[in-house]
Amino acid sequence: MTRVIVTGGAGFIGSALVHQIMAETDWRILTIDKLTYAGRMENLDGVMGDSRHAFAREDIADRDAMERLFTSFAPDLVFHLAAESHVDRSIDSAGEFVSTNVVGTFVLLETALTHWRGLDGAAREAFRFVHVSTDEVYGSLPPGEMFRETSPYQPNSPYAASKASADFLVRAWVKTHGLPAVITNCSNNYGPRQYPEKLIPLTILNMAEGKPIPIYGDGGQIRDWLHVEDHARALRLIAARGRIGETYCIGGEAESTNMDLVLTLCEAFDAIRPEAPWRPHRSLITHVKDRPGHDRRYATDITKLKSELGWAPRWTLGDGLAATIRWYLDHRDWCDAIAEGARARRGTG
Ligand SMILES: NC(=O)c1ccc[n+]([C@@H]2O[C@H](COP(=O)([O-])OP(=O)(O)OC[C@H]3O[C@@H](n4cnc5c(N)ncnc54)[C@H](O)[C@@H]3O)[C@@H](O)[C@H]2O)c1
Repeated sequence: MTRVIVTGGAGFIGSALVHQIMAETDWRILTIDKLTYAGRMENLDGVMGDSRHAFAREDIADRDAMERLFTSFAPDLVFHLAAESHVDRSIDSAGEFVSTNVVGTFVLLETALTHWRGLDGAAREAFRFVHVSTDEVYGSLPPGEMFRETSPYQPNSPYAASKASADFLVRAWVKTHGLPAVITNCSNNYGPRQYPEKLIPLTILNMAEGKPIPIYGDGGQIRDWLHVEDHARALRLIAARGRIGETYCIGGEAESTNMDLVLTLCEAFDAIRPEAPWRPHRSLITHVKDRPGHDRRYATDITKLKSELGWAPRWTLGDGLAATIRWYLDHRDWCDAIAEGARARRGTG
């Protein structure tokens, strides 16, 4: 039975991966998560009582803790997702991004290397470290071009720079030490359990309550959107059959401007909530000052992942958005718990 560590498993993508593995395999999982504002135990509802799943509240930058957990759990596979992930927060204060995304990745690489070197035979052959990164490391694209595995690194935000640094560390641990690791660079994810500071959940929750929907600048920024379940499937496939030392770009082949995406959500809400006093929901759109250094366009070429591993996204953007709206409306308790947590952190009770 495969034994897998998922770092950041109480976050958005990590929890989707944990739920998918628990549902579709007989693997054992150790979720390691510091439970920052973005890490929520509610995200692991349904797996916490399962004897195949264990949880450790630890900081990936804590070397003693990582060594203890790797020694006691003895993983065959590590999915590394723990990170500070919000660009706006990295602009306000980048310290945590460096400690977690850079130093934390370094500590995990060192710990994984020691663990892997202690394995022998088939276990050593089979061990994999899957590093989960972002297409934002490649910077901003002019029209007509695509990010691919060979694109130059041109990170523009402190978040992207911290992820790029982590990618380089992983690459070096493969090339220098032979650690069997693979790097993935994925486009924007959406789906259930995404912390509502990100565009799609923020828009859905604000529409539900008749609050303004903030749009950075003219809303013309283009992103490629991938449903989080498709991302989780890609990560599992790459862990199983990806080539060591390779990078795989993951994307949804679903480019949209932020404005078009928000308008789609508004139209869906007009149909779902025809009685809303603030209908049409597009009247809630409020343009706010653009983020400094805001990348204009991301788009990801997924030819390598398709041709080498036979992966393709299953969700269309339309179906995925409709399902995501339904999830947020059906999980008001989850949304309320997040709002309550955010209020408590601000000291407002
Ligand atoms: N969300 C996206 O669109 C997207 C796209 C491509 C890649 N990624 C990458 O995927 C990964 C997961 O992203 P997400 O959107 O789920 O983020 P998230 O913010 O929802 O979750 C991050 C998780 O990491 C945990 N964490 C943070 N610091 C930690 C530390 N020092 N030690 C242990 N745990 C810690 C948090 O508590 C949280 O549970 C990140 O590495 C991110 O860079 C995200």
